[in-house]
Amino acid sequence: MKQKRGKRTVILTIANQKGGVGKTTTTVTLGSGLAREGQKVLIVDLDSQGHISRMLAQPKQPGVRLWYYDEEPLERAIVQARENLWILPGDKSTDKVMARIRDESYGEEQFANQLKEHAAALGFDVAIVDLAPSLNNLQVAALIAADYVLIPTRLRFTDMDGVQEVLKTLQQIGRHGHQVSGYFLLPTLFDRGANETIERLKELVASQGARVWPPIVQDVRVGEAPGRGLTIWEYAPTCNAVLGYVNGGKRVGGYADTLQRVLALLEGV
Ligand SMILES: Nc1ncnc2c1ncn2[C@@H]1O[C@H](COP(=O)(O)OP(=O)(O)OP(=O)(O)O)[C@@H](O)[C@H]1O
Ligand SMILES: [Mg+2]
Repeated sequence: MKQKRGKRTVILTIANQKGGVGKTTTTVTLGSGLAREGQKVLIVDLDSQGHISRMLAQPKQPGVRLWYYDEEPLERAIVQARENLWILPGDKSTDKVMARIRDESYGEEQFANQLKEHAAALGFDVAIVDLAPSLNNLQVAALIAADYVLIPTRLRFTDMDGVQEVLKTLQQIGRHGHQVSGYFLLPTLFDRGANETIERLKELVASQGARVWPPIVQDVRVGEAPGRGLTIWEYAPTCNAVLGYVNGGKRVGGYADTLQRVLALLEGV
């Protein structure tokens, strides 16, 4: 792969300790969407479930371990999944990396620095980091590395805890000098027919204002795409989860809107 030296890679971390809120779906959708827009994208799978590979029709591989535990060059640990789109795949062996981070002093900072340095050396415009639904040292490392953090969340009562936990962790690492440039919330699996959902969305906007991005509706097409080895842009580019839902004659939310917001962040760097 051609190396472009001296370039900075923007790190976008997708975090929420809560399970099943759309982290991996959002990672794959934004990663593939940015790649289609001509950005050189690396998706980093820091969840040992290895779902990123499966969603992009790639075999599970120990990429994270190869790179950070066996100290292979990043170039040898990544896999190209589409034009402009590479993944650093994860699997169970990612646990070894967690142990290494734990055993080293400033392990999280070191991991964060190396990710930024190595991704930049390969000329990536952006690295999108997907995390497991737990607070582990990889989550801390990925939040330290982040320029921007996107928190996908469902809008049920108990889902708000997950958001609060990420914000708390961001505050803690901020106190250690690792301030992110911005964080945003992305309501996912949005069911606008449910009163509770609407109430939670209003509460979230009341406390977080414009940091709350327009929601992604629950859409059966989103669940179908990965089983066919396709991204939503390939499988159903005009579905409501992409184009938004119609409200008073206007379309609201959708991954196309989210993608434009991320592109605007990248242009602002
Ligand atoms: N907008 C949507 N409409 C319908 N289904 C969705 C939508 N977003 C995600 N899903 C489905 O919800 C499930 C959970 O999504 P996903 O795997 O992205 O969540 P996650 O936060 O990464 O989960 P985990 O915490 O286990 O890693 C998947 O089956 C996915 O296909
Ligand atoms: Mg996931």
